[in-house]
Amino acid sequence: MGVISQDNRPGSTPDRNLALELVRVTEAAVLAAARWVGRGDKEAADGAAVDAMRLLINTVPMDGIVVIGEGEKDEAPMLYNGEEIGDGSPPRVDIAVDPLEGTRLCAQGRPGSLAVIALAERGSMFDPGPCVYMEKLAGGPEIADCLSLEEPIGTVVKRVAERRGVSPTEITTVILDRERHAEGVRQIREAGSRIRFITDGDVSAALLAVMDGTGVDLLWGIGGTPEGVISAAAIKCLGGQMLGRLWPRNEDERQAAVDAGYDLDRVLEVDDLVGGNDAFFAASGVTDGDLLQGVRYHGAGYATTESLVMRSRSGTVRRISGRHDGSKLREVTGGLYG
Ligand code: FBP
Repeated sequence: MGVISQDNRPGSTPDRNLALELVRVTEAAVLAAARWVGRGDKEAADGAAVDAMRLLINTVPMDGIVVIGEGEKDEAPMLYNGEEIGDGSPPRVDIAVDPLEGTRLCAQGRPGSLAVIALAERGSMFDPGPCVYMEKLAGGPEIADCLSLEEPIGTVVKRVAERRGVSPTEITTVILDRERHAEGVRQIREAGSRIRFITDGDVSAALLAVMDGTGVDLLWGIGGTPEGVISAAAIKCLGGQMLGRLWPRNEDERQAAVDAGYDLDRVLEVDDLVGGNDAFFAASGVTDGDLLQGVRYHGAGYATTESLVMRSRSGTVRRISGRHDGSKLREVTGGLYG
Protein backbone atom coordinates (compact mmCIF):
# COMPACT_ATOMS: atom_id res chain seq x y z
CA MET A 1 0.00 0.00 0.00
CA GLY A 2 1.40 3.42 -0.93
CA VAL A 3 1.69 6.38 1.41
CA ILE A 4 -1.28 8.68 1.78
CA SER A 5 -0.79 11.37 -0.81
CA GLN A 6 -3.43 13.84 -1.89
CA ASP A 7 -2.16 13.98 -5.45
CA ASN A 8 -2.03 10.19 -5.93
CA ARG A 9 1.72 10.17 -6.49
CA PRO A 10 2.77 7.89 -3.64
CA GLY A 11 5.58 9.37 -1.64
CA SER A 12 6.34 12.00 -4.26
CA THR A 13 5.77 15.34 -2.61
CA PRO A 14 5.22 16.84 0.81
CA ASP A 15 1.52 16.87 1.56
CA ARG A 16 -0.86 17.71 4.34
CA ASN A 17 0.30 16.53 7.75
CA LEU A 18 -2.89 15.37 9.45
CA ALA A 19 -1.14 15.21 12.81
CA LEU A 20 -1.31 19.00 12.87
CA GLU A 21 -5.09 18.76 12.71
CA LEU A 22 -5.19 15.93 15.23
CA VAL A 23 -3.51 18.01 17.89
CA ARG A 24 -6.64 20.16 18.13
CA VAL A 25 -8.54 16.99 18.97
CA THR A 26 -6.22 15.91 21.80
CA GLU A 27 -6.02 19.48 23.12
CA ALA A 28 -9.81 19.56 23.33
CA ALA A 29 -9.86 16.26 25.21
CA VAL A 30 -7.31 17.37 27.79
CA LEU A 31 -8.92 20.76 28.34
CA ALA A 32 -12.17 18.95 29.14
CA ALA A 33 -10.63 16.16 31.26
CA ALA A 34 -8.37 18.52 33.20
CA ARG A 35 -11.39 19.95 35.04
CA TRP A 36 -11.74 16.49 36.65
CA VAL A 37 -8.17 16.00 37.85
CA GLY A 38 -8.04 14.55 41.37
CA ARG A 39 -11.82 14.61 41.85
CA GLY A 40 -12.06 10.83 42.09
CA ASP A 41 -14.56 10.41 39.25
CA LYS A 42 -13.04 8.30 36.45
CA GLU A 43 -16.25 8.11 34.43
CA ALA A 44 -16.81 11.87 34.45
CA ALA A 45 -13.21 12.55 33.43
CA ASP A 46 -13.35 10.01 30.61
CA GLY A 47 -16.79 11.19 29.47
CA ALA A 48 -15.62 14.81 29.30
CA ALA A 49 -12.59 13.80 27.21
CA VAL A 50 -14.70 11.66 24.84
CA ASP A 51 -17.31 14.41 24.30
CA ALA A 52 -14.68 17.03 23.57
CA MET A 53 -12.68 14.76 21.29
CA ARG A 54 -15.83 13.87 19.41
CA LEU A 55 -16.76 17.51 18.87
CA LEU A 56 -13.44 18.24 17.18
CA ILE A 57 -12.74 14.97 15.38
CA ASN A 58 -15.36 15.42 12.69
CA THR A 59 -13.68 18.63 11.58
CA VAL A 60 -10.58 16.63 10.53
CA PRO A 61 -10.45 16.22 6.74
CA MET A 62 -10.40 12.42 6.52
CA ASP A 63 -12.52 9.39 5.85
CA GLY A 64 -11.81 7.51 9.06
CA ILE A 65 -12.96 4.31 10.68
CA VAL A 66 -12.35 3.63 14.37
CA VAL A 67 -10.33 0.43 14.85
CA ILE A 68 -9.30 1.12 18.44
CA GLY A 69 -11.99 3.05 20.26
CA GLU A 70 -14.04 3.17 23.41
CA GLY A 71 -15.39 -0.36 22.90
CA GLU A 72 -18.39 -1.93 21.20
CA LYS A 73 -21.22 0.22 19.88
CA ASP A 74 -23.78 -0.81 22.52
CA GLU A 75 -21.52 0.13 25.41
CA ALA A 76 -19.89 3.20 23.86
CA PRO A 77 -22.20 5.79 22.36
CA MET A 78 -19.25 7.61 20.80
CA LEU A 79 -15.94 6.69 19.24
CA TYR A 80 -16.97 3.04 19.21
CA ASN A 81 -15.09 0.42 17.20
CA GLY A 82 -16.25 0.49 13.59
CA GLU A 83 -17.65 4.04 13.77
CA GLU A 84 -16.99 6.24 10.75
CA ILE A 85 -15.57 9.62 11.63
CA GLY A 86 -13.96 12.65 10.01
CA ASP A 87 -15.52 14.88 7.37
CA GLY A 88 -15.58 12.03 4.81
CA SER A 89 -12.99 13.46 2.43
CA PRO A 90 -9.81 11.47 1.53
CA PRO A 91 -7.54 10.02 2.82
CA ARG A 92 -9.14 6.77 3.96
CA VAL A 93 -7.64 5.92 7.34
CA ASP A 94 -7.85 3.65 10.37
CA ILE A 95 -8.13 5.47 13.67
CA ALA A 96 -7.01 4.56 17.19
CA VAL A 97 -8.19 6.80 20.01
CA ASP A 98 -7.73 6.89 23.74
CA PRO A 99 -9.41 10.11 24.87
CA LEU A 100 -8.06 9.54 28.38
CA GLU A 101 -5.10 7.16 28.70
CA GLY A 102 -4.68 6.70 32.44
CA THR A 103 -8.21 7.45 33.66
CA ARG A 104 -7.20 6.48 37.20
CA LEU A 105 -4.16 8.74 37.03
CA CYS A 106 -6.41 11.65 36.11
CA ALA A 107 -9.10 10.86 38.68
CA GLN A 108 -6.47 10.49 41.42
CA GLY A 109 -4.48 13.52 40.33
CA ARG A 110 -1.36 11.48 39.58
CA PRO A 111 1.25 12.19 36.90
CA GLY A 112 1.14 10.93 33.34
CA SER A 113 -2.45 10.92 32.03
CA LEU A 114 -2.81 11.78 28.35
CA ALA A 115 -5.23 12.13 25.46
CA VAL A 116 -4.02 10.23 22.40
CA ILE A 117 -5.04 9.68 18.79
CA ALA A 118 -3.29 7.87 15.94
CA LEU A 119 -4.14 7.43 12.26
CA ALA A 120 -2.76 5.08 9.63
CA GLU A 121 -3.68 3.91 6.15
CA ARG A 122 -7.01 2.06 5.85
CA GLY A 123 -6.65 -1.60 6.76
CA SER A 124 -3.19 -1.18 8.30
CA MET A 125 -3.99 -1.22 12.04
CA PHE A 126 -4.03 -4.44 14.04
CA ASP A 127 -7.50 -5.23 15.33
CA PRO A 128 -7.13 -6.82 18.79
CA GLY A 129 -10.54 -8.56 18.57
CA PRO A 130 -11.24 -10.32 21.87
CA CYS A 131 -7.68 -9.88 23.17
CA VAL A 132 -7.63 -7.30 25.96
CA TYR A 133 -3.99 -7.71 26.95
CA MET A 134 -0.64 -8.23 25.31
CA GLU A 135 2.89 -8.71 26.59
CA LYS A 136 5.03 -5.79 25.42
CA LEU A 137 8.73 -5.06 25.23
CA ALA A 138 9.89 -1.71 23.85
CA GLY A 139 13.25 0.00 23.47
CA GLY A 140 15.08 2.58 21.37
CA PRO A 141 16.67 2.11 17.92
CA GLU A 142 20.16 1.30 19.18
CA ILE A 143 18.90 -1.68 21.23
CA ALA A 144 16.02 -2.75 18.96
CA ASP A 145 17.79 -5.96 17.92
CA CYS A 146 18.45 -6.90 21.57
CA LEU A 147 14.73 -7.26 22.27
CA SER A 148 13.10 -10.69 22.50
CA LEU A 149 9.90 -12.07 23.99
CA GLU A 150 11.16 -15.60 23.50
CA GLU A 151 13.88 -15.30 26.12
CA PRO A 152 13.60 -14.46 29.82
CA ILE A 153 13.41 -10.72 30.48
CA GLY A 154 16.47 -11.01 32.75
CA THR A 155 18.53 -12.17 29.74
CA VAL A 156 17.25 -9.28 27.62
CA VAL A 157 18.14 -6.72 30.27
CA LYS A 158 21.70 -8.08 30.52
CA ARG A 159 22.05 -7.97 26.72
CA VAL A 160 20.87 -4.36 26.64
CA ALA A 161 23.42 -3.44 29.32
CA GLU A 162 26.16 -5.13 27.32
CA ARG A 163 25.13 -3.27 24.14
CA ARG A 164 25.18 0.04 25.98
CA GLY A 165 28.53 -0.88 27.57
CA VAL A 166 27.19 -0.34 31.09
CA SER A 167 26.39 -2.42 34.15
CA PRO A 168 22.79 -3.73 34.51
CA THR A 169 22.48 -1.37 37.48
CA GLU A 170 22.44 1.47 34.92
CA ILE A 171 19.54 0.02 32.90
CA THR A 172 15.99 0.99 33.88
CA THR A 173 12.91 -0.98 32.88
CA VAL A 174 9.44 0.49 33.38
CA ILE A 175 6.82 -2.02 34.50
CA LEU A 176 3.14 -1.70 35.39
CA ASP A 177 2.90 -2.58 39.08
CA ARG A 178 0.80 -5.74 38.77
CA GLU A 179 0.93 -9.15 40.44
CA ARG A 180 1.16 -10.83 37.00
CA HIS A 181 4.67 -9.38 36.60
CA ALA A 182 6.14 -10.99 39.73
CA GLU A 183 8.33 -13.51 37.86
CA GLY A 184 9.71 -10.91 35.43
CA VAL A 185 10.44 -8.54 38.32
CA ARG A 186 12.29 -11.32 40.11
CA GLN A 187 14.41 -11.98 37.02
CA ILE A 188 15.29 -8.34 36.49
CA ARG A 189 16.27 -8.00 40.13
CA GLU A 190 18.36 -11.15 39.89
CA ALA A 191 20.13 -9.59 36.88
CA GLY A 192 20.97 -6.68 39.19
CA SER A 193 18.98 -4.19 37.17
CA ARG A 194 16.70 -1.26 37.99
CA ILE A 195 12.91 -1.05 37.77
CA ARG A 196 10.59 1.93 37.70
CA PHE A 197 7.09 0.83 38.67
CA ILE A 198 4.09 2.72 37.34
CA THR A 199 0.50 2.37 38.49
CA ASP A 200 -0.93 3.04 35.00
CA GLY A 201 -0.12 4.50 31.62
CA ASP A 202 2.07 2.23 29.54
CA VAL A 203 1.69 4.32 26.34
CA SER A 204 3.71 7.08 27.93
CA ALA A 205 6.18 4.49 29.23
CA ALA A 206 6.64 2.97 25.76
CA LEU A 207 7.41 6.39 24.31
CA LEU A 208 9.88 7.17 27.09
CA ALA A 209 11.59 3.83 26.42
CA VAL A 210 12.26 4.61 22.75
CA MET A 211 13.13 8.28 23.22
CA ASP A 212 16.63 9.49 23.99
CA GLY A 213 17.68 10.89 27.35
CA THR A 214 14.56 10.01 29.34
CA GLY A 215 16.29 7.74 31.85
CA VAL A 216 14.14 4.82 30.68
CA ASP A 217 15.70 2.00 28.63
CA LEU A 218 12.88 -0.52 28.34
CA LEU A 219 9.17 -0.98 28.83
CA TRP A 220 8.22 -4.55 29.67
CA GLY A 221 5.04 -6.25 30.82
CA ILE A 222 1.45 -7.12 30.12
CA GLY A 223 -0.81 -4.16 29.37
CA GLY A 224 -3.73 -3.23 27.15
CA THR A 225 -3.67 -4.36 23.51
CA PRO A 226 -5.29 -1.10 22.33
CA GLU A 227 -2.53 0.80 24.13
CA GLY A 228 -0.03 -1.46 22.34
CA VAL A 229 -1.37 -0.47 18.91
CA ILE A 230 -1.36 3.22 19.86
CA SER A 231 2.21 2.95 21.15
CA ALA A 232 3.25 1.23 17.91
CA ALA A 233 1.94 4.16 15.87
CA ALA A 234 4.09 6.52 17.93
CA ILE A 235 7.15 4.26 17.71
CA LYS A 236 6.77 4.18 13.92
CA CYS A 237 7.29 7.94 14.01
CA LEU A 238 10.00 8.05 16.68
CA GLY A 239 12.06 4.98 15.73
CA GLY A 240 12.82 2.02 18.00
CA GLN A 241 10.92 -1.22 18.37
CA MET A 242 8.11 -2.76 20.35
CA LEU A 243 7.39 -6.46 20.39
CA GLY A 244 3.97 -7.70 21.39
CA ARG A 245 2.37 -11.07 22.03
CA LEU A 246 -1.31 -11.51 22.79
CA TRP A 247 -2.00 -12.60 26.38
CA PRO A 248 -5.45 -14.07 26.94
CA ARG A 249 -6.70 -13.67 30.52
CA ASN A 250 -8.48 -17.01 30.71
CA GLU A 251 -9.46 -20.09 28.76
CA ASP A 252 -12.62 -18.48 27.30
CA GLU A 253 -10.61 -15.57 25.93
CA ARG A 254 -7.96 -17.92 24.56
CA GLN A 255 -10.61 -19.96 22.75
CA ALA A 256 -12.37 -16.86 21.40
CA ALA A 257 -9.06 -15.58 20.03
CA VAL A 258 -8.15 -18.92 18.44
CA ASP A 259 -11.67 -19.20 16.93
CA ALA A 260 -11.27 -15.71 15.47
CA GLY A 261 -8.01 -16.80 13.80
CA TYR A 262 -5.44 -15.12 16.07
CA ASP A 263 -2.05 -16.83 16.46
CA LEU A 264 -1.30 -16.52 20.16
CA ASP A 265 2.34 -17.55 19.80
CA ARG A 266 3.17 -14.96 17.20
CA VAL A 267 5.47 -12.13 18.20
CA LEU A 268 4.18 -8.95 16.59
CA GLU A 269 6.49 -6.10 15.68
CA VAL A 270 5.66 -2.42 15.25
CA ASP A 271 4.99 -2.91 11.51
CA ASP A 272 2.55 -5.74 12.28
CA LEU A 273 0.64 -3.55 14.72
CA VAL A 274 0.57 -0.52 12.42
CA GLY A 275 1.42 -1.21 8.78
CA GLY A 276 2.23 1.14 5.91
CA ASN A 277 4.49 4.13 6.18
CA ASP A 278 2.18 7.00 6.86
CA ALA A 279 1.11 6.98 10.48
CA PHE A 280 0.13 10.16 12.32
CA PHE A 281 0.17 10.55 16.09
CA ALA A 282 -0.85 13.29 18.51
CA ALA A 283 -0.90 13.27 22.32
CA SER A 284 -1.55 16.01 24.86
CA GLY A 285 -0.95 15.92 28.62
CA VAL A 286 -3.78 16.08 31.16
CA THR A 287 -1.63 15.84 34.30
CA ASP A 288 2.07 16.68 34.38
CA GLY A 289 4.30 13.73 33.50
CA ASP A 290 7.74 12.78 32.22
CA LEU A 291 6.50 12.85 28.62
CA LEU A 292 4.31 15.95 28.60
CA GLN A 293 3.30 18.81 30.80
CA GLY A 294 -0.34 18.73 31.79
CA VAL A 295 -3.00 21.42 31.51
CA ARG A 296 -2.17 24.48 33.58
CA TYR A 297 -4.55 27.28 34.44
CA HIS A 298 -3.37 30.85 34.48
CA GLY A 299 -4.96 33.82 36.18
CA ALA A 300 -6.50 35.67 33.30
CA GLY A 301 -8.92 32.91 32.25
CA TYR A 302 -6.57 31.03 30.00
CA ALA A 303 -5.05 27.57 30.12
CA THR A 304 -1.94 26.10 28.52
CA THR A 305 -1.40 22.66 27.01
CA GLU A 306 1.58 20.70 25.76
CA SER A 307 1.36 18.18 22.91
CA LEU A 308 3.52 15.81 20.93
CA VAL A 309 2.75 15.68 17.20
CA MET A 310 4.42 13.21 14.86
CA ARG A 311 4.30 11.62 11.43
CA SER A 312 6.11 8.47 10.34
CA ARG A 313 6.55 9.32 6.66
CA SER A 314 8.60 12.44 7.35
CA GLY A 315 9.80 11.41 10.81
CA THR A 316 9.02 14.90 12.08
CA VAL A 317 8.40 15.19 15.82
CA ARG A 318 6.98 18.43 17.16
CA ARG A 319 6.21 19.66 20.63
CA ILE A 320 3.41 22.17 20.52
CA SER A 321 2.48 24.54 23.32
CA GLY A 322 -1.06 25.85 23.23
CA ARG A 323 -2.59 28.85 24.96
CA HIS A 324 -6.36 28.60 25.21
CA ASP A 325 -8.82 31.34 26.08
CA GLY A 326 -11.39 29.70 28.37
CA SER A 327 -14.33 32.01 27.80
CA LYS A 328 -13.93 32.11 24.01
CA LEU A 329 -13.63 28.33 23.86
CA ARG A 330 -16.74 27.87 26.00
CA GLU A 331 -18.62 30.09 23.58
CA VAL A 332 -17.36 28.21 20.51
CA THR A 333 -17.99 24.76 22.01
CA GLY A 334 -21.39 25.49 23.56
CA GLY A 335 -19.86 25.21 27.02
CA LEU A 336 -18.42 21.74 26.46
CA TYR A 337 -14.95 22.79 27.52
CA GLY A 338 -12.77 25.82 27.96
P1 FBP B 1 -7.13 3.22 31.05
O1 FBP B 1 -6.83 4.63 30.84
O2 FBP B 1 -8.03 2.67 29.98
O3 FBP B 1 -7.65 3.01 32.42
O4 FBP B 1 -5.77 2.39 30.88
C1 FBP B 1 -4.72 2.59 31.77
C2 FBP B 1 -3.73 1.44 31.70
O5 FBP B 1 -2.80 1.58 32.76
C3 FBP B 1 -2.98 1.32 30.37
O6 FBP B 1 -1.95 2.26 30.22
C4 FBP B 1 -2.49 -0.10 30.43
O7 FBP B 1 -2.16 -0.62 29.17
C5 FBP B 1 -3.67 -0.81 31.05
O8 FBP B 1 -4.38 0.19 31.79
C6 FBP B 1 -3.29 -1.93 31.98
O9 FBP B 1 -4.45 -2.62 32.33
P2 FBP B 1 -4.77 -3.06 33.83
O10 FBP B 1 -4.99 -1.83 34.65
O11 FBP B 1 -6.03 -3.86 33.69
O12 FBP B 1 -3.62 -3.86 34.32
